[in-house]
Amino acid sequence: FIHPVILCGGSGTRLWPVSRKAKPKPFLPLVGERTLFEATLDRCADPARFAAPIVVAGAQHLEHITAQLGARPDARVIVEPEAKNTAAAIALAACRLPQDAVMLVCPSDHFIADVTAFRAAAEAAARLAAEDWLVSFGITPTAPETGFGYLKRGAALDGGYRIERFVEKPDLARATEFLADGGYSWNGGIFAFRAGAFLAELRSHRPDIAAGVEQAVAGGKAQGAAFYPAPEPFAGFDGESVDYAVMEKTARAAMVPAAMGWSDIGNWHALRDAREGDSDGNRVEGRAELVDCRNVLAITDGPRISLIGLADVAVIVNGDEVLVTTMDGAQKVGKLTGAVQQ
Ligand code: GDD
Ligand code: MG
Repeated sequence: FIHPVILCGGSGTRLWPVSRKAKPKPFLPLVGERTLFEATLDRCADPARFAAPIVVAGAQHLEHITAQLGARPDARVIVEPEAKNTAAAIALAACRLPQDAVMLVCPSDHFIADVTAFRAAAEAAARLAAEDWLVSFGITPTAPETGFGYLKRGAALDGGYRIERFVEKPDLARATEFLADGGYSWNGGIFAFRAGAFLAELRSHRPDIAAGVEQAVAGGKAQGAAFYPAPEPFAGFDGESVDYAVMEKTARAAMVPAAMGWSDIGNWHALRDAREGDSDGNRVEGRAELVDCRNVLAITDGPRISLIGLADVAVIVNGDEVLVTTMDGAQKVGKLTGAVQQ
């Protein structure tokens, strides 16, 4: 069995004003009718392949998680004492699983169009993870994005490749070089690890995180389906993402290519592209009238949006906030005062 470990952490400020601190990105139905969190659970809901999921999240997300677990009463939740980034979040789950269990780490805020391809990649990744490879899902890059990790494919393995080099969030010059090279994939942020193999690598590269998490789990308390690690040992280390803490450093990194219609829906531009357009490429949700518009994203939960003669813009109305941006500007939304102060 593959053990899904679902991470709920970030706040998703680049999808402001729809995504807000009180109800962030994973818990919103951004593409289709299911929320991204529900869709993540659905992808791992095949009982022939997947064990019950473990959700790792902060206390502030617990209410949404409980409300959206729906048909998964078997799910377990690990409630982080504080956010310490993904290396620690994954280590918490690894400590709570049998050391030979293969875990599939899934961010809760991604969109994946092709569930069959996802499951095939998960099985290939799980086979490599059982041999103690630390496996990432590789995505074919389409632009020199600087917000992703880049994997250089090395020697072929059964169902995948060794990772020769893992570079987390390169600058634009290097990202452009990696794209032109053709030998690199994006890190999809989905990983398969044998729990014991992950903890062994974490112990050798970040012993402070490994020890803090192990002590937090040893001193933790179960309460119903939720587990509360002890806060003191968890407060004693500086958090780091799994990409920097483990994947860039390990000699056992591997990847499986995953062509599955993946998007991290990192901003309104990516959301537009993940949704299906009408014959003019427009995507409209709520009351809106568009005349002579192309490839426009218009979303409102109240006032009517009326647009004439625009192309490649997003107009988002939510509560008492209005956002208007070009598609190129969409990655800067997190810098707006409204998004920062929400
Ligand atoms: N439980 C928990 N606790 N979850 C967390 C925490 C935390 O402290 N921090 C982040 N997460 C969750 C986020 O909610 C998200 O689902 C996932 O872990 C990844 O974190 P992000 O903050 O979204 O990372 P990123 O997008 O900057 O980069 C990662 O994902 C890219 C693909 O989307 C990296 O893995 C990149 O290499 C990768 O390309
Ligand atoms: Mg992300």
